[in-house]
Amino acid sequence: MQIGPYKLRNQLVLAPMAGVTDRPFRQLCKKFGAGLAVSEMVSCNSALWGSRQTLRRMDHEGEVEPRTVQIAGADPVLMAQAARFNVERGAQIIDINMGCPARKVCNVMAGSALLQNEDLVRKILDAVVTAVEVPVTLKIRTGWDPEHRNALSIAKIAEQAGIQALAIHGRTRACAYKGEAEYETIRSVKQESSLPIIANGDITSPENAHEVMEFTGADAVMIGRAAQGRPWIFREIEHYLATGGLLPEPGFEETRTIMIEHLNNLYAFYGEYTGVRVARKHIAWYSKGHHNGAGFRQRVNRVDTVDGQLRMTHAFFDGLTQEMAA
Ligand SMILES: Cc1cc2nc3c(=O)[nH]c(=O)nc-3n(C[C@H](O)[C@H](O)[C@H](O)COP(=O)(O)O)c2cc1C
Repeated sequence: MQIGPYKLRNQLVLAPMAGVTDRPFRQLCKKFGAGLAVSEMVSCNSALWGSRQTLRRMDHEGEVEPRTVQIAGADPVLMAQAARFNVERGAQIIDINMGCPARKVCNVMAGSALLQNEDLVRKILDAVVTAVEVPVTLKIRTGWDPEHRNALSIAKIAEQAGIQALAIHGRTRACAYKGEAEYETIRSVKQESSLPIIANGDITSPENAHEVMEFTGADAVMIGRAAQGRPWIFREIEHYLATGGLLPEPGFEETRTIMIEHLNNLYAFYGEYTGVRVARKHIAWYSKGHHNGAGFRQRVNRVDTVDGQLRMTHAFFDGLTQEMAA
């Protein structure tokens, strides 16, 4: 798949997830084969740009190209400014969030709430595309609620504005994360629109990624929650799409190596205090489904030093390996 001048290595995209897709996680998913990894969103409220959190979100040092930054907001002028600001700081693709139902975003009429107001959508897209030289992409849901699925109409607006790819999460804003994603709307947008389409929602396995691509005709698939604690899912899907074969899940030792490297990258990126806290949710995801995982999570959540967290993680994997050998 091609976005502007960037030819992606494959058709696999890591979904933007606030609080999850920081630089260490994006790097990890790209290492395992994600062709594109969208950063956490940056608010268009310039008052927040100096905050430590926003500065971290704009930190792309050493990141595999292309570097994509998502922006969110509802004011065309501020969105254009936010896009320029991020491009000056290294963003190579700007992604606009009209797909997130978070209250924080929707209350100010941004994220997926914008889908209700097509005129404002047009103004925002025009303003952002005009403001920057780099490609601009858009992420939406299928509509406002099941009675108002206006993804096609938004796709037409996006096409006219010069948007270069459109990611569609197969749920409406009203659906939040309930029920199952539907792919019919994504398929009809793909049929009617000339934009590269990225299908998103509930993709959890190589087979299911393949099915969604076949059914929708989408140019790429975007994976969010299924990559939490399983960054190797990109390697599995890439392999399946190329060969039709399934790779085995990583064994304990490989999982340990991946996890320890991830934790060390989090500590280096955030420092000890925040790094240990951010690491807790990743540790929980990695250990889910493993024997004794629940007890390990309870214990490790009480530790607040790098040394303690690493020691407990090693002990957990030592236990798993010993059990296997017994
Ligand atoms: C924790 C979390 C944070 C998210 N943050 C964002 C965000 O900042 N911007 C956005 O466009 N979507 C956001 N999303 C939505 C995801 O990008 C994606 O559309 C959704 O999770 C469906 O894909 P999945 O079924 O593969 O997880 C978030 C989702 C989760 C679970």
